[in-house]
Order: sequence, then structure tokens, then C-alpha cells
Amino acid sequence: MSERDPLVAGNWKMNGDASSLDGLLDGLLTELSGLALRRCSVLVFPSYVYLGQVAQKLLGSGIGVGSQDVDQRAQGAVTGGVSADMLKDVGCRFVLVGHSERRTLFAESDKLVTDKFEQCRSQGLVPIICVGETLEERRQDRTIEVVTRQLKVVTSRVGLAGFDGAVIAYEPVWAIGTGESATPEQAEEVHAGLRRSLAELDENLSCRTRILYGGSVTADNAVALFGMENVDGALVGGASLKANSFAEICKAAEES
Ligand code: PGA
Repeated sequence: MSERDPLVAGNWKMNGDASSLDGLLDGLLTELSGLALRRCSVLVFPSYVYLGQVAQKLLGSGIGVGSQDVDQRAQGAVTGGVSADMLKDVGCRFVLVGHSERRTLFAESDKLVTDKFEQCRSQGLVPIICVGETLEERRQDRTIEVVTRQLKVVTSRVGLAGFDGAVIAYEPVWAIGTGESATPEQAEEVHAGLRRSLAELDENLSCRTRILYGGSVTADNAVALFGMENVDGALVGGASLKANSFAEICKAAEES
């Protein structure tokens, strides 16, 4: 890994309840206190319902809290909506935008993802923009084209200043929750492509932007993935639901 400080984010998705998540956090706090991380930032992304509870518990712990989604509107008559302002209010600093499950299950378009990205920025939240190709697109050799398109929709709207400080997560759709991670070489090729694409906007921005890999990251494959020049950490689903596996991944990032 490079001079960019690593970031490991746990995407808990629609799992757990108040009591099991509390136990998961206790485990994680114990595991991470033993690691004394210096470089690696750690984030967890609970469901909306538990965000406040988790943020309270993690106050002062060094572990940050993020949301799995946000509404693109600022406020108002949006039944069921959760605004960026509300997220900030309960102690959230990061937001996943454009996760492939949102794009697929909720038909989120590139335009909507960009609206959400902008909404985060307007409230001072850090968006983690997720991009990734389907298996069919990979087979058609369209991976770089697809992920750079997903990224450019955002960068062309928000520009250099609007993008600076955001994080990218490359998550091949075929690797999410399947147990079949991209190989370190496959991940590196796409991360390097994304970085080249950002360099068209600004060379320095490209150098400092963190690009996480996500898709079946485990304690077993994390070291090799983090050994790649352009892999700056991970967005972890399944393995983030076990304190010891998640802590192992954080350790691998710290030592990369
Ligand atoms: P996974 O999920 O680690 O379970 O593959 C990753 C993600 O969807 O962010």
C-alpha cells in the first residue's frame, strides 16, 4: 500500500438487532484496543435504526460511524426519508452512496447516486462512492469502461472541489457476498484505472483519494489485497459481522 492512510469500513447491511450489535461492538472495541492502530481508520455502517445507538457507544473510541444510504433531498414531505442533516445530527460522518445493492434492489440510477453524493457534501458528510461491474460486463471486457463511467458521472457534476475528500469503493458485483473475491491483480488493475480517470481531473486529487476494495474480503485474503499499490483499504460486508475477522482485516490494513 502507498502513503495514503488505509481505511477499513464494515457494512453491516440489514443484519443484527440492538442486542447483537451491542455485543459485536463490545467485541470489536476489545479486539481493536489490542491492536493500537495508528494509520488505519475504522468505520462501521449500521442500519438507520441503530445509527444513534452505535454512534453513542463509539463516542471517543476512534471508530467512526457511517450510514448505508441517505435521501437526496434536504428535508420535507418525504415519508420514510432520512436526510443528511439527520445523519450528521446522530453522529454520522460517512455515507455509502451507490452501493450495488441500492443500484439493483432500489433501481438507483447514476443520476440519483450523484444527487445523494451532492447532498452529503452539502452537509459536510464524506461520501463513499461505490462502483463495480457485473459478471456479464467483466466477461465482455467492459469493466474499466463501466466503473469509470460510474465515477465520471459524479466527478463531472461536482468537479475537483466537490470530489476532494470523498472515498471510492470498487466492488465488483459478482464478488459481493459470493465468497469469490477479485484477485489482488484484478482489483489492482481496476483501482489503477480509477486513479487514472481521477488524474484527468487533477493529478494531486488522484494521488490522495483513497480507493477501497469490496467484495468477499476476509481475514484470509486481506493481506494480499492490501499489498497492492492502489488498494487503500476495504469495504467489508459479511466478515464485518464477526469482531475477530473484522479486526484481523484492520490489522492487515495497518501493517500493509
Ligand atoms: P461482502 O460485502 O464483503 O459480504 O462481499 C461487501 C459489500 O457489499 O460492501
